[in-house]
Amino acid sequence: MEYHKIVLIHRILVSLFLLHYVVKGYFLIADKKETLAGYTAKTKIAEMVLSALFLASGIYLVAAGPALSMLMYIKLALVFASIPLAIIGFKKGNKILAIIAILFLIAAYGLAEISAKHYKKEDKKPVDTSNITSGPVAVGQDIYKAKCLDCHGAKGDAGLAGAKNLRITQLTDDQIKDVIHNGRPGMNPFPAIEEDQLNGLVAYIRTLK
Ligand code: HEC
Repeated sequence: MEYHKIVLIHRILVSLFLLHYVVKGYFLIADKKETLAGYTAKTKIAEMVLSALFLASGIYLVAAGPALSMLMYIKLALVFASIPLAIIGFKKGNKILAIIAILFLIAAYGLAEISAKHYKKEDKKPVDTSNITSGPVAVGQDIYKAKCLDCHGAKGDAGLAGAKNLRITQLTDDQIKDVIHNGRPGMNPFPAIEEDQLNGLVAYIRTLK
């Protein structure tokens, strides 16, 4: 399965896991002890499966993906700290620990979102190519703006989620086309981009140097 699909699955699992813990946290704080016990018993197996898949997909993403950023390390630390806190908090009915665990999870979720958006905002200023109006470079630029900007940035070196710096790429034209067509860990494939458009993208990437 492709990396970006695992990212999507991981995000869904994380959202479900978080929602589940917000519900449990609510029952605990509202002193609905029996409701909490019933809910916990009913969701026990689902929670085990969910957390196993959540951890497995996360480990895969870290292992197969690009180098981790500082924000991602903090995120991982928050997630791993929240696990024992949640276990002890819910077992002992300790509201403070349970709340801290849930806040850690929410913070981790927020950090992942922030690190994604941060880059997008930073590097959305378009490159000045007012002198280029037609030819392969113009074709490439249009596609680049629509499909590559979010990760690689306007100048090719934004590096969102470990996106490689296109200004210093050592790849040949054919290798670049292959990466675009088939994707890489952290980069979704673009099988629908046609040959002349691929050539345009290569031509445009070469102008970023
Ligand atoms: C979702 C984010 C994302 C998008 C969108 C994206 N890329 Fe990437 N790209 C990456 C990541 C991450 C890598 C590094 C993968 C690796 O570790 O090999 C990469 C690597 C590359 C490389 C390889 C560079 C090298 O030197 O190895 C090329 C070429 C490239 N991307 C071109 C493009 C083009 C062209 C587009 C638009 C059609 C695009 N990318 C869209 C994230 C993205």
